[in-house]
Amino acid sequence: IGGQEMEVIFDTGSSDLWVVSSNCTQADCDGVAKYSQTPTLSLSNHSFSLSYLVGSVSGVVGFETVAVGPYQISPQVFALANETRGLNLSVAGDSGILGLSFPLSAAIPPTSGKTLLENLFSYFDDAHRFFAFHLGGDLYDSSLSLGQLDPALANSTDGFTYTPVYTGRKGVPDYWKLPLHAITLNGSASFSSLAPSRVPGSATPIAVLDSGTTFVLGPSADVDAFWNLVGASRKTDGGQWQVKCSRAVTVGFVLGNDDTREYIVDPHDISWKEGDAADEWCTGGIQTNDHINSGDWILGDTFLRNVYVTHHGATTNKPPLIGLLNLTDPASSLQRFQDERGNDPLSPIQGSGEVHRHGERLRLSAGAICGIVVVGAFLVGAFGVWVFQLYMSRRQRSQEKVSAVM
Ligand SMILES: *[C@@H]1O[C@H](CO)[C@@H](O)[C@H](O)[C@H]1NC(C)=O
Ligand SMILES: *[C@@H]1O[C@H](CO)[C@@H](O)[C@H](O)[C@H]1NC(C)=O
Ligand SMILES: *[C@@H]1O[C@H](CO)[C@@H](O)[C@H](O)[C@H]1NC(C)=O
Repeated sequence: IGGQEMEVIFDTGSSDLWVVSSNCTQADCDGVAKYSQTPTLSLSNHSFSLSYLVGSVSGVVGFETVAVGPYQISPQVFALANETRGLNLSVAGDSGILGLSFPLSAAIPPTSGKTLLENLFSYFDDAHRFFAFHLGGDLYDSSLSLGQLDPALANSTDGFTYTPVYTGRKGVPDYWKLPLHAITLNGSASFSSLAPSRVPGSATPIAVLDSGTTFVLGPSADVDAFWNLVGASRKTDGGQWQVKCSRAVTVGFVLGNDDTREYIVDPHDISWKEGDAADEWCTGGIQTNDHINSGDWILGDTFLRNVYVTHHGATTNKPPLIGLLNLTDPASSLQRFQDERGNDPLSPIQGSGEVHRHGERLRLSAGAICGIVVVGAFLVGAFGVWVFQLYMSRRQRSQEKVSAVM
């Protein structure tokens, strides 16, 4: 930004670019690379401010030359933050956030200028107007690429399933959303959406892909039922679900429109072993949040580590699309989990049923079925959820750094 290199969080769950300026003197932004004014900066008289569930950022809107890989935008609208609170930037070493979602969810108004993603997309023809994102298990197998796939992850679009971004009645995309039909548990027991979604116009719950959120988050009615069905689980006083570290569960998310697919999540992502290794309790990768306003469920890093996602901008004859390729092999990931965590002395999950794809009804055991409660859409709430999770994710941060391959 203005020739200064800064580390930012690539966040598919927000749409603004902001970095801390040299005027940021709080402990929260202590020690991170800060933007200092250059001759190419032009400041607006618009203030920028976002309040989160935990933390906040404020500053001023400006314009500066921004380069991402070989692509340069001049001028690019962004925000210079002189105040950040509760974001723990100094812990992670991040200077700000690069939002990769749609203009409709941007806090900087479109009258000020296009989002960085819109500007980047303008470099590409219809066939290449996308970015591809994979969160890996460590620093070195994560990938973000623009206009092309990362050959380390895929050489062709074979195997990807494409779903138009869910736009609801507005017909305009706000987040990278798609319908969630069911959550499968160990290949059989499943949750089916019985109640209509409260997202306007949606017959199924709506899931938001969000790299800035650590967990998969959903309505407490469903998530509580999920963990009760898994068993060997408990909810802490703080409301966080934990599970016995030896409990092996393979979870699948059934996503898409007519052509639905089940995306399998590695058992390691459902049961996080962290902190005191002697502790028999692990943190659940799926947690409750009844304040999600961007959709019904947020599919954060827990889910995203298991897929390669392409995010396609609108073309002359196609709406924005999400392409998904499952990278997790259910058998080998379960085997690794059981080798590491040892035998599960508790009885297996009770309940049976199977997921019928392609729009057929889901046939499930009564005990496995539970209605999905849905909440409405509102921007600031979504930011709040995201930052709350960002805050909680700091211990995991080293696993989530993303390197650019361009
Ligand atoms: C940030 O900038 C605003 C507007 O210029 C100012 O009111 C505020 O005091 C500044 N905050 C800090 C921490 O410097
Ligand atoms: C893509 O092609 C390259 C070169 O042939 C190869 O090294 C790489 O393994 C391929 N990637 C995948 C995911 O198959
Ligand atoms: C899930 O399925 C695997 C493979 O069949 C099994 O080993 C494991 O015990 C099951 N987990 C639970 C909690 O039932």
